[in-house]
Amino acid sequence: MRRYSVALIKGDGIGPEIIDEAVKVLDAVSVQENFEITYREALLGGAAIEMTGDPIPEETVEIATSCDAVLFGAIGGPKWDDLPREKRPETGLLKLRKALGVFANLRPTIVYDELINASPLKPQVIKGTDLIVVRELIGGIYFGEPRGYDGERAYNTMVYTREEVERIARTAFQIAMKRRKRVTSVDKANVLEVSQLWRERVTAVAQEYPEVHLDHLYIDNAAMQLIRDPKQFDVVLTGNIFGDILSDEASMISGSIGLLPSASLGEKHGLYEPIHGSAPDIAGQGIANPIAAIASAAMMLRYQFGEEGGAERIERAIRRVLKEGYRTRDIASFDAKEVVTTSEMGSLIAQYASEL
Ligand code: IPM
Ligand code: MG
Repeated sequence: MRRYSVALIKGDGIGPEIIDEAVKVLDAVSVQENFEITYREALLGGAAIEMTGDPIPEETVEIATSCDAVLFGAIGGPKWDDLPREKRPETGLLKLRKALGVFANLRPTIVYDELINASPLKPQVIKGTDLIVVRELIGGIYFGEPRGYDGERAYNTMVYTREEVERIARTAFQIAMKRRKRVTSVDKANVLEVSQLWRERVTAVAQEYPEVHLDHLYIDNAAMQLIRDPKQFDVVLTGNIFGDILSDEASMISGSIGLLPSASLGEKHGLYEPIHGSAPDIAGQGIANPIAAIASAAMMLRYQFGEEGGAERIERAIRRVLKEGYRTRDIASFDAKEVVTTSEMGSLIAQYASEL
């Protein structure tokens, strides 16, 4: 029997509801595929602040670094918005990413044909889109020093080293080799020195992958191209803050931010989380879409454990519920056969993942 340990960090808002559904699906799949997952729960964000006063208690880092993978829901909420930055829930998440060394954040945008009408964009623009944003996650302006705020003046530093750029570039090229062999690197090299280095190092790494076609776009143009013609993209390689922005933008191509999973990978660890936030406005009502969390669990099976069969079961089950017309409220349109709750959606996917 193959055994894996997973740190479960449910977090705040809708986090607990959606992670419970992901666990339900993982349990169903593990029975079919003959592996076993043991879970250890840990606190992060607002939930951790309430219990310990610290958005990332030491025990959480210990649990996250000693398990084989981390499955994470979402953090944050209005209750903690006025805290100083060091004490905010978001700081907990950034410190967790850093502690795990997960420098490569993979955010695929999937357009499910069944949901083509859920996107605010025209079907003919988005149909067939299949792209992945590869976002550098533990450097750039999010972490650069010096940083400060004195009430009069505030500053942050956008910094990348040659090594940091080269390692994320390699990840992007390796992913491109398994896809359509196209990398678009996004920067602001017409203005920023940090982007000049970025462009030079990405271009240098490209030499190692002669089969991959590389082009460069400025971030402003990339933001526009993504809406104008998303099908032109395969792998979008970019830094921390540009990737944060572009991946939210890309999610609208798929129709709902509640659909998209992510994987954050490093040398040793992997952190899997939906790209959406904690949605405090709909928390506890049973209407959140668990698909992003469930699809993140599928990415965990694939990238962390090499359980391709299990990952495919989950992905096929998601397609099947959508094909059959089951919708959570965020993706319900005129073609919904039945609007279901968070937990009904999870149960359907678990059931289909067992049958396939
Ligand atoms: C994301 C989120 C986080 C980020 C926040 C919550 C710190 O927006 O994962 O995209 O900016 O990385
Ligand atoms: Mg974001």
